[in-house]
Amino acid sequence: MKLIFLGPPGAGKGTQAAGVSAHLRVPHISTGDMFRSAISNGTPTGLEAKRYMDAGQLVPDSVVIDMVRERLAMDDCANGYLLDGFPRTVEQAEALDGISAPDAVVEINVPDERLLARLTGRRVCQKCSGTYHISKLTDEKVCPVCGGALIQRDDDKPETIAKRLQVYHDQTSPLIGYYQAQDKLRVIDVASLATVDGDSRPEDVFKAILASLE
Ligand code: AP5
Ligand code: MG
Ligand code: ZN
Repeated sequence: MKLIFLGPPGAGKGTQAAGVSAHLRVPHISTGDMFRSAISNGTPTGLEAKRYMDAGQLVPDSVVIDMVRERLAMDDCANGYLLDGFPRTVEQAEALDGISAPDAVVEINVPDERLLARLTGRRVCQKCSGTYHISKLTDEKVCPVCGGALIQRDDDKPETIAKRLQVYHDQTSPLIGYYQAQDKLRVIDVASLATVDGDSRPEDVFKAILASLE
């Protein structure tokens, strides 16, 4: 299965990709995670990407496309992939169609007003990459799964989040029509899954994603 998760920053792409990739037995490939690891390793790609990421802007297409082409050529992609955060522009989608076209595209649709609270309260484990929200943590600094240190991402500041949302609407949302025209789009309307407290439970989103793929 070759699958794409499409959705705005904070939609829950990374949260859902962990379970869905294990279920489908395909690697979870997050271009954002690849750039963050390149930054912490101090590679030239990381240094270039950091400038754009800190500003909430997209890394240039040529850099991202080359990185994904190399990643998809690896052995573990023989049975497919789950791409999270790629493609993000029509140019990237066209390049992917030439490398290894997806079977389905899951759009995780969350209203903008929910995203700010999710992202400002997000904490990520430096050791196991687990993603949490402060509303569900008893200790904001320690990973409840592995005991690693929890940190806040550099781009989860309110002003950078606003820029990322604008970039999503301007440059990435045209992909909804692109994949609709190819008859590959499955829409998960998270607002329709909301419980009384106004947000959806990750396990309900997970079930809805698997149902959409049947
Ligand atoms: P990237 O790392 O891809 O960030 P993003 O798309 O902005 O998405 P996020 O990771 O912020 O959100 P998510 O949807 O994964 O949500 P999460 O599961 O964490 O990209 C970062 C940067 O890298 C870009 O800005 C760009 O510069 C660069 N880049 C990357 N790919 C690129 C590309 N292809 N081209 C060019 N540049 C690229 O969840 C968020 C929060 O919500 C968490 O706290 C979580 O616990 C909570 N949550 C999750 N699900 C639920 C739920 N159902 N209910 C309540 N809370 C929930
Ligand atoms: Mg993510
Ligand atoms: Zn951890």
